[in-house]
Amino acid sequence: MGRKRTDKIVFDTVKVLDAGAKGVSVAKAPDGKVIFIPNVVPGDVVDVQTFKKRKSYYEGKAVHFHEFSEHRVDPVCDHFGACGGCKWQNMNYDRQLFYKNQEVYNNLKRIGKIELPEFEPILGSEKQFFYRNKMEFSFSNSRWLTEKEIQSEEDYSNQNALGFHIPRMWDKILDISKCHLQEDPSNAIRNAIRRFANEHNLPFFNPRNHEGLLRTLMIRTASTGEIMVLVQFFEENPEQRELLLNFLAERFPEITSLQYVINSKANDTLYDQDIKLYKGRDYILEEMEGLRFSINAKSFYQTNSDQAYELYKITRDFAGLTGNELVYDLYTGTGTIAQFVSKKARKVIGVEAVPEAIADAKENAKRNDISNCDFFVGDMKVVFNEAFIATHGKPDVIITDPPRDGMHKDVVEQILKIAPERVVYVSCNSATQARDLALMDEMYKVTRVRPVDMFPQTHHVENVVLLEKR
Ligand SMILES: C[S@@+](CC[C@H](N)C(=O)[O-])C[C@H]1O[C@@H](n2cnc3c(N)ncnc32)[C@H](O)[C@@H]1O
Repeated sequence: MGRKRTDKIVFDTVKVLDAGAKGVSVAKAPDGKVIFIPNVVPGDVVDVQTFKKRKSYYEGKAVHFHEFSEHRVDPVCDHFGACGGCKWQNMNYDRQLFYKNQEVYNNLKRIGKIELPEFEPILGSEKQFFYRNKMEFSFSNSRWLTEKEIQSEEDYSNQNALGFHIPRMWDKILDISKCHLQEDPSNAIRNAIRRFANEHNLPFFNPRNHEGLLRTLMIRTASTGEIMVLVQFFEENPEQRELLLNFLAERFPEITSLQYVINSKANDTLYDQDIKLYKGRDYILEEMEGLRFSINAKSFYQTNSDQAYELYKITRDFAGLTGNELVYDLYTGTGTIAQFVSKKARKVIGVEAVPEAIADAKENAKRNDISNCDFFVGDMKVVFNEAFIATHGKPDVIITDPPRDGMHKDVVEQILKIAPERVVYVSCNSATQARDLALMDEMYKVTRVRPVDMFPQTHHVENVVLLEKR
């Protein structure tokens, strides 16, 4: 251990031991504290320079490699390292699955402290790249230059960028030339917009002063081949707006839905914005097992469509439906799970907080000729109450797929009060899932667990659990 600078310590020849939360790997310092190190793989042996010291841990970066892990692979993406998107691209996919599975297991064991059955094998994604159906890029006139770019002879006097936020730097954007997460024409559209905007001097957003024209770009693709493009402008300039949208419409006639929004508020979220249609229709269609789902600019739809199908099949299998059951689908979104299981149920009731999502759910059920699904809007802890259950009936099976925070404790209590035979709990955060499972442990036994990978190259993992009444 040597000291290079007073605030920065260098630990020599440290073995990376584990892949920790948030995609950052873990090693042990000679003083016993944990060191969090990004962009390394368990098995690497490195010198680490710390840049943060806390009571129980350090954060540092690898400054020299002594040995490379056998689990390492060459990242396919030129932006790896600077871009925060695919932190595990340097680890082989089998090992990624190993750590995802381990994360779920550790959370259920350590936080849930419950008895667990043997896990069913984690389901990997067939597509390990180009699996996302939705990407959002940001414009900025404050481009982030990587060390490689700074050292190169290239002229970077044009500071305009269209790409992703640099982790922990809200005002810096990494310019992306090729992203491996969404199929083409995603890259082609983004790069064409950047080129056109530069050629025509359309101002990129300045995040510090809050000025400029071009703010964000969203691209959605579907397995049906349909494409949605939404350009977010910070200010209204009809001439420049028309120029860009017209260019897009002509250059990419395959765009099914071309939309825009003028958003001058402080943040760039779209949910409260008035979205305008420029060309085509205001939705695209996704298809799954013969069901068609319309997706508009604000709709939630699982971002890996192929793997969503696998996730839903596992959910339906865990639910063990025979055709006679009343099923509640809590946090139903646009009612996809509800409709997916509806053929095997007597009736399905979906509940969700976002009114637009429920409108979509109803529309989709109509489109799919499904008559045994009903959808209701509201905050779960308010809507899912005694009166609701008295009106719609006591469910035989509950499927629940809450957001990252998990279920509100009142919702858990309500489930325990009505005590359905089976609960299928789908989660994108096994830590909050574990907390909720612990609350249900007295009444329910966890009988099946199957993690599903929806997001290769990242540390994220979905988990499906079946709870059966004791
Ligand atoms: C992980 S998504 C599940 C979506 C859906 N099951 C699917 O597969 O497409 C969670 C959903 O919960 C909804 N939600 C979040 N908080 C809620 C609340 N307090 N009450 C009701 N729904 C809520 C979100 O709007 C979102 O649609």
